[in-house]
Amino acid sequence: MRQSSLLHSSNTMQRGLHVAIIMDGNGRWAAARGLPRTAGHRVGAEAVRRTIQGAIASGITTLTLYAFSTDNWKRPVAEVNELMRLFRLHLLKEARQCTKQGIRLTIIGRRDRLPSAVRMAMEAAEALTRRGDKLHLRIAIDYSAREAILQTIGKITAPLSREEFSALLNSDTPVSEVDLLIRTSGEQRLSDFLLWESAYAELYFTKVLWPDFGQQDLLVALNAYHARDRRFGSIQAAEAA
Ligand code: FPP
Repeated sequence: MRQSSLLHSSNTMQRGLHVAIIMDGNGRWAAARGLPRTAGHRVGAEAVRRTIQGAIASGITTLTLYAFSTDNWKRPVAEVNELMRLFRLHLLKEARQCTKQGIRLTIIGRRDRLPSAVRMAMEAAEALTRRGDKLHLRIAIDYSAREAILQTIGKITAPLSREEFSALLNSDTPVSEVDLLIRTSGEQRLSDFLLWESAYAELYFTKVLWPDFGQQDLLVALNAYHARDRRFGSIQAAEAA
């Protein structure tokens, strides 16, 4: 087994899992019920709460949720406004509960284009929860992996190793690589989410629409993950022998 694979597997055991989720299907969930898309986002926020509880119960140590991509600005203004309203509301509402449960909340993505009320709620939630050591919950808002990579390239002043680049990419709050990336709603693409950090992530696609996603769905995904054989480019120790 190569040194890099040893590092990967032993680190995973020590630090617990990093699970990332592309929460997709809110619009279709609403359309199927004759409701406006925004109703899907509101119910989707409840699925976020369930998933966080499921993550804590199953020992996940980092959970990154894709809430708003840089390309989501192309949506109708009313939908964008409702999403911003939901982000602010839940950040304000949940931050205290997060501290009680040992959840550290951080936001990834650009902040300069967000309404100031959302930015203030983010900063307050990050400050309040900064000591959380049970689960690192990262919400991606106005996020693009390619933009994040380009920004990081702009900071490079000397040749870097992959590990050094990873550290620079997430220099605000260090984070491990993604172990399991889940996408709901049946779509099978990465949509500019955590492209560098997911280099060796196991991908799991489910047809469940995000507002219906619950703790049981998370467990099914985790079981599928644990049944996978992660070799990081190497071969089985037994085969090598
Ligand atoms: C994708 O479904 C979902 C989003 C772009 C928004 C995700 C937001 C939430 C789950 C709401 C609250 C979040 C937090 C963190 C409080 P889609 O609208 O693309 O669905 P579709 O593909 O069926 O149209």
